[in-house]
Amino acid sequence: MKRTLGTCYYPEHWPREQWEEDAARMAALGLTWVRIGEFAWGRLEPTPGDLHFGWLDEAIAVLGAAGLRVVLGTPTATPPRWMLTRHPDMLAVDDQGRLRGFGSRRHYCFSHAGYLEECRRITTLLAQRYGANPHVAAWQTDNEYGCHDTVISYSEAARAAFRGWLRMAYPGNGNDGDIGALNAAWGNVFWSMDYADFDEIDLPNLTVTEPNPAHVLAFRRFSSDQVVAFNRAQVDIIRQHSAAPVSHNYMGRVTDFDHFDLGADLDIATWDSYPLGFLEDRVGATPEQQRHFARQGDPDFQAFHHDLYRAVGAAQGAHGAGRGRWWVMEQQPGPVNWAPHNPAPLPGMVRLWTWEAFAHGAEAVCYFRWRQAPFAQEQMHTGMLRPDGAEAQAFHEAAMVAAELADAPDVAQRQARVGLIFDYGAEWMWQIQPHGAGLCYFDLVLQHYRALRRLGLSVDILPPSVRDFAGYGLVLAPGLMVVPDDLKAALSASGAQVLIGPRTAARDGEFRMPVPLPPAWNGLDVTVSRLQSLRADMPVPLAGGGAVTGWLEELEGGAEVVLRTASGDAVAMRAGKVTYMGGWGDGEALRLLLSELCALAGIAVQELPEGVRIRDTGTERFWFNHNPHPVDTPVGALPVAGVLRVPV
Ligand code: GAL
Repeated sequence: MKRTLGTCYYPEHWPREQWEEDAARMAALGLTWVRIGEFAWGRLEPTPGDLHFGWLDEAIAVLGAAGLRVVLGTPTATPPRWMLTRHPDMLAVDDQGRLRGFGSRRHYCFSHAGYLEECRRITTLLAQRYGANPHVAAWQTDNEYGCHDTVISYSEAARAAFRGWLRMAYPGNGNDGDIGALNAAWGNVFWSMDYADFDEIDLPNLTVTEPNPAHVLAFRRFSSDQVVAFNRAQVDIIRQHSAAPVSHNYMGRVTDFDHFDLGADLDIATWDSYPLGFLEDRVGATPEQQRHFARQGDPDFQAFHHDLYRAVGAAQGAHGAGRGRWWVMEQQPGPVNWAPHNPAPLPGMVRLWTWEAFAHGAEAVCYFRWRQAPFAQEQMHTGMLRPDGAEAQAFHEAAMVAAELADAPDVAQRQARVGLIFDYGAEWMWQIQPHGAGLCYFDLVLQHYRALRRLGLSVDILPPSVRDFAGYGLVLAPGLMVVPDDLKAALSASGAQVLIGPRTAARDGEFRMPVPLPPAWNGLDVTVSRLQSLRADMPVPLAGGGAVTGWLEELEGGAEVVLRTASGDAVAMRAGKVTYMGGWGDGEALRLLLSELCALAGIAVQELPEGVRIRDTGTERFWFNHNPHPVDTPVGALPVAGVLRVPV
């Protein structure tokens, strides 16, 4: 498939006279897509019921006449001020009981029935009006669910909905749930926490000390389900009126709702990639790494999300056709405005990020945004054009990519040899019970991903629902707290080398420690008999190199010990092709362990220089240099921001 480019445009920000010229410049640049509308509710309906769709009709017509294809956003991330007058209790509430007020965006609680109804209404109006418009070639629901910490709300609406959700989760006879079943499942005998009725259950905030982890987990699952239901309401309406694919733009490292669940309702998963902003505020890199990659971004963080959204796009939902589709809907174009520091990308990095996304399978990359806004919150955020309309970095680099795309062979995807399971539920469980400061599932998975990529490997991220491992030589499930029996069996029978632990299968679905003790894996005689978390300054060196940091388990059983601490204690044990790792390995420990597992699996590895990454597709090997200096590789010199395509 030919890869395409696009941009995010806000016609309502610019004089009407400007639109034709903007559209013509986009088309001349070689852009295919233009996303509009996602924050425009205030201009579409300035007062309740007073609809002004004329300007949007015109904007779509102008863009379409220039040959551009429109992605139309529903405007539900930015309810206008009058909405609050209509629904004063629609705001989300934080864990301290404070309202999250009007004056920016995402100011709504997913559980508010009145606001949901307003969203249905505006979505219906848009879908009816534009569902058959030939220029509207895709839809986007809302904008970045969960961004700005907006999934979890402790509002009255959320409390009422949570009680209803619990009644369904613990069904009894008739309409009411079985409160005894809930008490038993949560272990509410502890600290006399038993409830007599679902209406006694509050949200798990403002407790004296920590709430019951089972209670919090239920609330986290509920909160995720609310996002999925909110999105589904819009998708269902759009599909009644339009055959165009429906997408949503996820945000990097926003894990408060299950992206696989939501993705099952979409046709295309998209995500918003801001490599320099992310390195500053969410990658978790050391200060030295932040300095080294300040103008290039982390070499693995974007790639991880590309692979994640390829999997989210493939989530099996009701809408079976054309699965596995994903895009970058917003690509950083230059300095952003929102990170602690906002450096400019090195020349060539916007081009590199674009090619990297294509190498991982993106169908389209759209730059955020077309023209920098000289007003309001994002006036310090660059675009493809400066506020005065002059061309900025992203404009020139997009032009380069557009020219390269015209000549380049198509990117053909192929399954990787290595699969890495990522589970949102495990992320919540680690957050609820980290057991040691800073221990986090996302980081654990990202560190495994990083170690694999340093070995020159391409990786498929897999959802926890996967049972078919055909084609994989190595499958990793570190930290996957809940492993249903059929997943254990499927992994054992997969024929792949399987790496599990630390903390894999450590809890049942109700946040209880199973007995027999974890991992309780058929054919693997290993028991985690005790565990401890470690201060950052207490690394435990391993015999043979590397160390365990943060988390260390004591292992018992008859399986073969394949890794020991320097003082001789078992850290990893193996039976057949299943290896249990009872600690959080550092980079060197993971390098050694994964190299050994790859050798056992017959997967060739190639240790890459720092900041150099490769990605294999069906026809080519892509090489990327994320360093601020040139590098020599076996296939030749890679300049700064270099991209090399080598046919295989
Ligand atoms: C994204 C968001 C955009 C814009 C952008 C700025 O999170 O979807 O609307 O705010 O960040 O980098």
